[in-house]
Amino acid sequence: MKIHENISLKSYNTFGIDQKAPLLIEAENEADVLEALRLYPNLKVLAGGSNILLTQAPEVPLLHLTQKGITVLYEDQETVWVRAAAGECWSDFVDYCVAQGYAGVENLALIYGTVGAAPVQNIGAYGVELKDVFKSCEAIYRENRIKINIERAGCAFGYRDSIFKQRKDTYIITSVTFCLTKQNHQFKTHYGDIRARLAAHGWEETPQHIAQVVKEIRQSKLPNPNKLGNSGSFFKNPVIPRSQFLELQKSYPHIPHYEVGEEQVKVPAAYLIESCDLKGYRIDAVGVHQGQPLVLVNYGGATGAAILALAHYVQKQVAQRFGITMEMEVNIW
Ligand code: EPU
Repeated sequence: MKIHENISLKSYNTFGIDQKAPLLIEAENEADVLEALRLYPNLKVLAGGSNILLTQAPEVPLLHLTQKGITVLYEDQETVWVRAAAGECWSDFVDYCVAQGYAGVENLALIYGTVGAAPVQNIGAYGVELKDVFKSCEAIYRENRIKINIERAGCAFGYRDSIFKQRKDTYIITSVTFCLTKQNHQFKTHYGDIRARLAAHGWEETPQHIAQVVKEIRQSKLPNPNKLGNSGSFFKNPVIPRSQFLELQKSYPHIPHYEVGEEQVKVPAAYLIESCDLKGYRIDAVGVHQGQPLVLVNYGGATGAAILALAHYVQKQVAQRFGITMEMEVNIW
């Protein structure tokens, strides 16, 4: 266990916000997690820092899980169960699976953050969500510091949602087990221009090729946090009642949408924000990304408060124009 006092969090959050943590504990294994919890029952987990906005210095100690390791637990001809430690970098984990020819996570290539944080918001991209490949996870139940195994059915996964998000600070995920496919995989290539890009390369549908085109698409639209601070999609795509959508469609006949069920329709927040002429909008060091307006960016030296103020401004403009409340996807600290 490593303990850092009064440490800058700039390199611990992808927005690159410079706040100081009074205490940051690096847990290298499960024993460290248990010890940290015993010493500081009120600690908060800081994982890859790719889905948080620091608006103030954290008041409680932070726990950063660094344990890595990928283990094949079971395999037969068709499937493989792979367990990854919480501290594994998500993107490295995808690269590992793809290199082994294991299918299921290729659409989730190049998402920032760690394996342990991935179930919390049920990360998703290009028609695949974590829940599609999640088998179970191991977690410490904070109240009694006992390790438990949670199966998929117990996770209440939804769009960018899970039991870990709903019951905040209840569990600390220490590893995740995935159920992946070794052959006969039903690849999901319907989203965006995945198929067009595969065809342009003359590539078959394989985990490697799909991961490669997903990386190309992401790199063309989403800013690299190492160059421009950001936290991916700042807002969730709003799900609205069908009646409200039909009304909107009268004024905006080309409004894009996805069917969610009989009663609900999902509309892209990026479209709503762009329609408010906010694409590329900038105030001082903060802005709405030109390539994908769902992403708010730190041009350098921004405070969390300034980014939050911009988020509120964007929310207000969209609400005034469309009567839709966009929920923040990023956790405000
Ligand atoms: N759009 C615009 N203007 C733009 C960009 C997009 O109007 O400048 C509209 C278009 O109609 C487009 C639609 O928005 O078809 C969807 O855009 P995109 O495919 O870029 O995806 P998104 O809905 O904006 C979601 C996820 C992303 C994920 C992509 C791809 C959420 C909140 N975000 O974005 O996830 O990578 O789909 O699957 O669901 C993240 O969560 O951090 C994230 C990046």
